[in-house]
Amino acid sequence: MHLLSILDLKKKDIEEILDLAIKMKGGEERKFLKDKNLAMIFEKPSTRTRVSFEVAMRQLGGYAIYLSRDDLQLSRGESISDTARVLSRYVDGMVVRALKHETLTAMAKYSSVPLINALTDLEHPCQAISDLLTIKEFKGTVEGLKLAWIGDPNNVCNSLLLLSSLFNINMTIGCPEGYKPDEEIFNKAKGMGGKIELYDDPYKAAEDADIIYTDVWVSMGDDSEKEKRKRDFKRFQVNEKVVSCAKESVIVMHCLPAMRGKEITSEVMDGKNSVIFEQAENRLHSEKALLTKLLS
Ligand code: CP
Ligand code: NVA
Repeated sequence: MHLLSILDLKKKDIEEILDLAIKMKGGEERKFLKDKNLAMIFEKPSTRTRVSFEVAMRQLGGYAIYLSRDDLQLSRGESISDTARVLSRYVDGMVVRALKHETLTAMAKYSSVPLINALTDLEHPCQAISDLLTIKEFKGTVEGLKLAWIGDPNNVCNSLLLLSSLFNINMTIGCPEGYKPDEEIFNKAKGMGGKIELYDDPYKAAEDADIIYTDVWVSMGDDSEKEKRKRDFKRFQVNEKVVSCAKESVIVMHCLPAMRGKEITSEVMDGKNSVIFEQAENRLHSEKALLTKLLS
């Protein structure tokens, strides 16, 4: 089974991953992936995803091989399909962070071992699954909650939209006019019964929210629009005023890396509602559960 999009998993699969992640976080230690090998191909930088997957493999008894694009013959023109076919003969799974989602869909056609999306321009499913663990941990239940996404409706937002529709989380998006989530994903999420509302007002979007979530205004690959984006998103900063529109018990989330003072203030990031570093830690526990589900 590949994990390119949240929709590659059923709700039941995700629930199993979360249950296992909770057990693993609680200290259950089993070498579910003893002597298994994972190739990790990264076309873009990473702190959390790379390190959490690498440590996860080691804790599960297996091995991880990190490969930047420049380490591979891909950089000299070897095709994606040949790369996938060859690596499939050596390893038990592949984690890939690609500039373009199409690279992953092309690899998936030729990979005979599970392929895991470690972020593309379209989705970041591992992040979203891990975030559900954090939400469950802090809120007890997830169904019926209101998640306000404030800022750029990007890859992380796309995966959260799909996941929210599966788990009956209501999502509001506060972003400037001219920005919107991926249309196909938005329509899929709506088609699954997702309750999604879009506002060009951050305060309206954050009203009565149980969760406020933000991410960088300039994602990897968007650098050519950097200055324009900084101007366009200025009003959509997660600060005390935005947080005060939400429920008193609101939790503030950010997938990180954060640009402090841009999409989120340090005051909020380090404030009493922030669960951001717990959220970052959960990447390790959820990655262990995910790898166990897909590779064992
Ligand atoms: N949140 C996340 O995926 O972070 P990295 O880019 O550091 O992996
Ligand atoms: N949206 C960000 C997420 C980083 C984890 C990016 O794609 O750069």
